[in-house]
This record gives sequence, C-alpha cells and structure tokens, in this order.
Amino acid sequence: MITVHFVQPDGSRQDVEADEGMTVMEIAREANVPGILAECGGGAICSTCHVHIGAEWIATFPGRQPTEEMLLEMAPGHDEYSRLSCQIELGAEHDGLVVRIPEEQPEY
Ligand code: FES
Repeated sequence: MITVHFVQPDGSRQDVEADEGMTVMEIAREANVPGILAECGGGAICSTCHVHIGAEWIATFPGRQPTEEMLLEMAPGHDEYSRLSCQIELGAEHDGLVVRIPEEQPEY
C-alpha cells in the first residue's frame, strides 16, 4: 500500500491509500476525488483526467507518449508537470506522491 495526496485548487487535500499497479485515475475514481472526470474510462481519448504532478515526482514516471502529448494540448492550464492520470501507473516509489487537480477540465 502506498499513499497519494490529492490537492484541490483551493488547497484542500485528500489522502488516498492505493495498491501498486493501479493508475492515478483509477484510485482517484475509487476514492471519489473531485475534479478527475475520466470520461473515456482510461482510453486516452478524452483528457478529462488531466492532473499536475508534484515537481519533485514528475521524473519518477515514464515520459509522455505522443497521444498523451496531443491530448494534453487540449487541457486548460496544462504545463510541464501535466499528465493524463489514466496513463501513469503507481509503483512502490510513489508513496507520498502529490497530485494537483486543475481548476477545470476540458469540455466536449
Ligand atoms: Fe480519458 Fe484519461 S480518462 S484520457
């Protein structure tokens, strides 16, 4: 078990325990974390699961694939710490991970 800290735009925090091997999107949905819509269910076609990864954590995940890069371009407020939460899988090294929820998600 590892713990992931979700931080809302207003600074409020939700700590979620997770199993290794799950994606950040999956644990957020299980824990009803607001702001991660994940409308395509993890299919990497919607970008409504956009999050910002804490700067100190960004290098602990494999880099973005071209499809993720393209989808993130459509996500409001995207930056160098942006990821699609359905595309990043948790490992033991992610205990204490900080995930920031964006102000808004794209609308389709
Ligand atoms: Fe749709 Fe992640 S859930 S891209």
